Amino acid sequence: MAKNTNKYFEKYLKFLNKHGLYPAIYTVEGPSSSPEVFMDNKKFFNFSSNNYLGLAGNEEVKKVVIENIKKYGVGSGSTRLLSGTLDIQVKFEEELARFLEKDDSITFSSGFLANVGVIRMLVDSFPYFTLIFGEKPGIIISDKLNHASIIDGVRLAKSERAIYEHNNMEDLERILEENRNKRKLILTDGIFSMDGDLAKLKEISELADAYEAVIMVDDSHGVGVLGPYGRGTAYHLGVAQNIDVIMGSFTKAFGSIGGFIASNKSISDYLRITARSYIFSDPIIPAVVAGLIETTKIIKEGDNLRKNVIGLSSYLRENLKKLGFTVLGEETPIVPLFIGSEKKAIKFSAMLYENNILAPCIRRPAVIEGSERIRFSLMATHNKEQVDYLLEVCERIGRSNKII
Ligand SMILES: Cc1ncc(COP(=O)(O)O)c(C=O)c1O
Repeated sequence: MAKNTNKYFEKYLKFLNKHGLYPAIYTVEGPSSSPEVFMDNKKFFNFSSNNYLGLAGNEEVKKVVIENIKKYGVGSGSTRLLSGTLDIQVKFEEELARFLEKDDSITFSSGFLANVGVIRMLVDSFPYFTLIFGEKPGIIISDKLNHASIIDGVRLAKSERAIYEHNNMEDLERILEENRNKRKLILTDGIFSMDGDLAKLKEISELADAYEAVIMVDDSHGVGVLGPYGRGTAYHLGVAQNIDVIMGSFTKAFGSIGGFIASNKSISDYLRITARSYIFSDPIIPAVVAGLIETTKIIKEGDNLRKNVIGLSSYLRENLKKLGFTVLGEETPIVPLFIGSEKKAIKFSAMLYENNILAPCIRRPAVIEGSERIRFSLMATHNKEQVDYLLEVCERIGRSNKII
């Protein structure tokens, strides 16, 4: 029996290995979130971390986390609705809500869990209690390039779903028009994680207004990086008040772990007692939450960090374009060098590795076949010399492989 089971999986693995498709998974020695990392005792330049502001290794944050481990231990010991709601979590959720100028926020042990728990609850019929009043059926309307955790969150919903072409407002309006009589939830990334471009939040909020739709924005890559005080993409585009639910992850600019949603009080209160990944999964460990309070303060005062990371990203983006590469995205620390072939992207990434650059290629299941890319991500802690080295290596690889 066990043998047969192994054969089943081996078939898949053999196929991938035969075609050179099993992904290279690198083991980094020590912190992996710095511009320079070590593997096999060799130094590499790291252009694949989402630690955009360089705060994962911040000394003040580390100090706070260590102090709070002494106070709270290493776990909360329970889920939130039992004894796992600790003073430090409530404090952080209040501060996060203030930071994002929403009534309230709730945190999850990951951003992925926030999406899979929240989305269905914003649109499906009321759970657990049979209510006496009828509800209109709901529909989820989701951008084609939304993150995998949104896609999985949508899959868990019982409501109908429709996908609109990436950032295509005519397509979005068509779906809204066809579903006038339903409760509607529009879902979009704020910054698209694999493409580095921004959602058209101004246009989306105008449409949501006209068709009475709820908007949820996954701003995992925007919070901390864009907008005044790093409040995110919706603030950057001046439409924060029109966004009903801001979702985010602490694994990017916050350099830590966990996820959140920020919203008005009734949505947060509703999700606290309905979102299954909040109810049935333990929260972020309290000492890390204490660290996140410190990180939020640093983010608010982090204009210099934002200036650095955005400046370096534009420098890389513009110079890659000048060399003749196809580069996606705008204004963000995500700089995808588009290749459009799995084999070529794997080779490109392997050649970067030979030149001591860590930047794995992005391919299925992260993007569809034929749209493979190398996704460079920049940090405030990178410097121009490191980016120049990356440019020089990309030029050499690009020319030798006739990509430019
Ligand atoms: C847009 C987006 N949403 C959600 C997530 C999930 O976040 P987490 O790493 O906290 O699970 C990610 C992480 O890759 C992401 O890029």
